[in-house]
Amino acid sequence: MSPPTLSPPTLSTPTLSTPTSRHVEGPLSNFVEKIVSESLTSQTTVAEKPDEQTVPQPTDVFAKAFNFSRADEAEAIGMHPYFKPIASQHGGTVTVNGRDMIITGSNDYLGLTQDARLKDASREALNDFGTSCTGSRFLTGTLTLHEALETRLASFFNQESALTFSAGFLGCLSVVSALAGRHDIMYFDRENHACLYDGARLSYGKLRKYDHGDLDDLERLLKKDVGKPGGRMIVTDGVFSMSGHVAPLDGIVELARQYGARVIVDDAHATGVLGANGRGTAEHFGLEDEIDLIVGTFSKSFASVGGFMAGARPVVNWVKHKARPFIFTAALPAMQMAAALKALEIIEDEPWHRHQLWRNVTRFKEGLEQLGFDTLGTQTQIIPVLVGPDELTMIFWKALWEEGIFTTPALPPAVPLSRSIIRTSINANHTEAQIDQLLETFESVGKNLGVIV
Ligand SMILES: Cc1ncc(COP(=O)(O)O)c(C=O)c1O
Repeated sequence: MSPPTLSPPTLSTPTLSTPTSRHVEGPLSNFVEKIVSESLTSQTTVAEKPDEQTVPQPTDVFAKAFNFSRADEAEAIGMHPYFKPIASQHGGTVTVNGRDMIITGSNDYLGLTQDARLKDASREALNDFGTSCTGSRFLTGTLTLHEALETRLASFFNQESALTFSAGFLGCLSVVSALAGRHDIMYFDRENHACLYDGARLSYGKLRKYDHGDLDDLERLLKKDVGKPGGRMIVTDGVFSMSGHVAPLDGIVELARQYGARVIVDDAHATGVLGANGRGTAEHFGLEDEIDLIVGTFSKSFASVGGFMAGARPVVNWVKHKARPFIFTAALPAMQMAAALKALEIIEDEPWHRHQLWRNVTRFKEGLEQLGFDTLGTQTQIIPVLVGPDELTMIFWKALWEEGIFTTPALPPAVPLSRSIIRTSINANHTEAQIDQLLETFESVGKNLGVIV
């Protein structure tokens, strides 16, 4: 069966320099709305109700893919903001299509991806262990380096035990799916990361969602379940990946104790960033003894790839022996672990990277707010810039891109309807000059498009 031919794009590139009111009208509006929301939403077809007289014919499961042309259409008119290939990275800039651009939105929070010590450690591990484990941790894939990293992580987090995963995503899938059994109830902040939600789908437990950061709503749900069988676990991101908000862990812990729930924190965006020693959200609140489990990633502050959990030994051991996304996949490779191990040493020994990050965050966030942008109450290095309508956000993104600023827009369903943002994040290795240039560009684009006055 051959794919249907793609319809050619019929729209011309918008004129970005024209001052525009808050609501951009015209052909772009419908178009952008569709491509963006459809490319971000899983592609599902709704089966037609079969005619009772006729035997329903199977549809082609690939049809939705063959009919999915919007991303190509967006690319053709230069309005596809995702999958931009970076040729090289250096500090706060990257090279794309031969052009140097300031990047804001990467998760290299401490700026360690180009650190010579991480590269050397990776090279050494490559020489010692080769390019791959080619097997599951369960079988032939456990290296001495896995155990060394896990021991180091456990002591960093003051926990009994730790376990590494081939990705943070797999760590979250593993922990949630292995721990939420039949009758158990999981309470999720609505803004939790997709991998936690997917973990819940893989589990046999029941999922309840509470409004973002809303302790009253969480308590309402916990109360409703009093007397029902099964265990309880409250699962929250420590720092939320779109809003940059910090979870109200103090209130969560109080409710957890009151209603007999365990607390699991996904600190992907908080490790290395929050807390006097970079140990994350629990340290930030002085609650390290109260959190039952921390999950996280090496793909952000650790400047590597992979994930981890840290907690009580029996819990870690359970996940190690029960979690399918841990057992049925190849182990985290040595190069990645060596980089993460070196980053952990740097996080512990060189707090100035974190201090620099916070200086940069303050400069950028305060600068944006002084200009009149709404940063949605962010408390961290993730700084959303509210634009609002999807199409205006896409035009905003494109104008920044043309000015040499690499950002990404976030649109529904990643954010609530009509609350589209440019998701920025600041790193330790942005220079003051780069931050000032970012601010100048945001100012001119924001004024030009009527987002600020
Ligand atoms: C909150 C959160 N948890 C987990 C993950 C998954 O981490 P990884 O990139 O290691 O798969 C991410 C990644 O974006 C994240 O933002």
